[in-house]
Amino acid sequence: MTSIDPLTFPPGFLWGAATASYQIEGAVAEDGRTPSIWDTFSHTPGRTKGGDTGDVACDHYHRYREDVALMADLGLGSYRFSIAWPRVQPGGRGSINEKGLDFYRRLVDELLEHGITPWVTLYHWDLPQELEDAGGWPARDTAARFAEYAALMHGALGDRVRNWTTLNEPWCSAFLGYASGVHAPGRKHAPDALAATHHLLLGHGQAVQAIRANDPQAQLGITLNLYAISPADPESPGDHDAVRRIDGLANRIFLDPVLRGAYPEDVRQDLAGVSDFGFVQDGDLEVISAPLDLLGINYYSRHVVGAPDPDVPAEPYWRASTSWPGSEHVRFHKRPGVPVTDMDWEVDAPGLTETLVRVAQEYPAVPLYITENGAAYVDTRNDAGDIDDTERAAYFDAHFRAGLAAIEQGAPLMGYFAWSLLDNFEWSWGYTKRFGLVGIDYETQARTLKTSGHRYREVIKRNGLAE
Ligand code: FCB
Repeated sequence: MTSIDPLTFPPGFLWGAATASYQIEGAVAEDGRTPSIWDTFSHTPGRTKGGDTGDVACDHYHRYREDVALMADLGLGSYRFSIAWPRVQPGGRGSINEKGLDFYRRLVDELLEHGITPWVTLYHWDLPQELEDAGGWPARDTAARFAEYAALMHGALGDRVRNWTTLNEPWCSAFLGYASGVHAPGRKHAPDALAATHHLLLGHGQAVQAIRANDPQAQLGITLNLYAISPADPESPGDHDAVRRIDGLANRIFLDPVLRGAYPEDVRQDLAGVSDFGFVQDGDLEVISAPLDLLGINYYSRHVVGAPDPDVPAEPYWRASTSWPGSEHVRFHKRPGVPVTDMDWEVDAPGLTETLVRVAQEYPAVPLYITENGAAYVDTRNDAGDIDDTERAAYFDAHFRAGLAAIEQGAPLMGYFAWSLLDNFEWSWGYTKRFGLVGIDYETQARTLKTSGHRYREVIKRNGLAE
């Protein structure tokens, strides 16, 4: 696939923006919604910055009409949002809570009336608390519960929604949720993180089968957070082995079972001291590798890794070795002089090209969508109240160019979703990190389109860049 000119995306390229239920909706106890693991976690002292919770967030549950109007003003072709499982099936079992589902019916109708294609993510981390109490993702039954919920949602919305993503970033659910414990449910037991990985993937595969059986037209996919990974010292074999390990745990442990039907052998060996993978039952990998219509890729940054240095203490959050079972011996590097966002993530647009091209070359052909990409920066308002977020706008611009470069190199990239439409509840960071094209004043809930949003509107209109 080639573009018409080097700055233009292929005709029909899908431009969107993404959000997630717990990060924006609020209304956590309304219309029959019950707690998710993120309600429990955020209400536990010490788990989130400043004790922030998603109780109110962007109040999108009540303000969705205003938000859809903003999307229309931006010219979005598609809106990627997630369904809060405990809103539509409280407790994660049994019948639908019609009042909760009505919210998504109204949202979908509103989108369609504005000519915006709804793109549903079924699981963006808000597991019903009851299912966690019954064992959570380390328990095999949770996969079956997820597939049942997925089929219910497709039955209810499938006449108007064609695009379904099963899971968002299972790495975060499994590794941050059950190994390092910095995300809900906050457990710290590496073997559980691997069982969770498998059951998340099994739930994905079972959901794909269930939806496919009812609707051969549905566009089905999964969203993975993939990373470009490179050695701190390209001359060092030890650093290359660190790349292999982290690539295994970040990328291949998901890509291989989903797209090739097997866990990578070297990863299983690296993890031998953690788990014997006894949770894998006959037939699971056929289910997990059920054919997909597309792969969603969330890209933010690159990992630069090397051999261990016992004198360097582990870094916090996802760089902590506890997030990477079996890789205690890897050291994460920060490259001096490379600009970072407010998340302290290095800005590395070429890594996006690298990631897209790599997937296209190494895995069976599947259309690719960037389902998230974006940056947190500290925003300031000028006297007129405008938010001139030039750094975020530059981040987006660089990554659009990286997407174009990947298309030039043959990657079948079909669409791009900015993260995020709105500033929102950034998980354990609470409201301290802002990713929105639209700024939120959390005191008043006023929405303000930032400079990055204005620029995005121009890119969408042109289906490319001006220069
Ligand atoms: C991704 C998540 C998304 C948001 C961004 C910044 O890992 O999918 O919800 O937190 O990071």
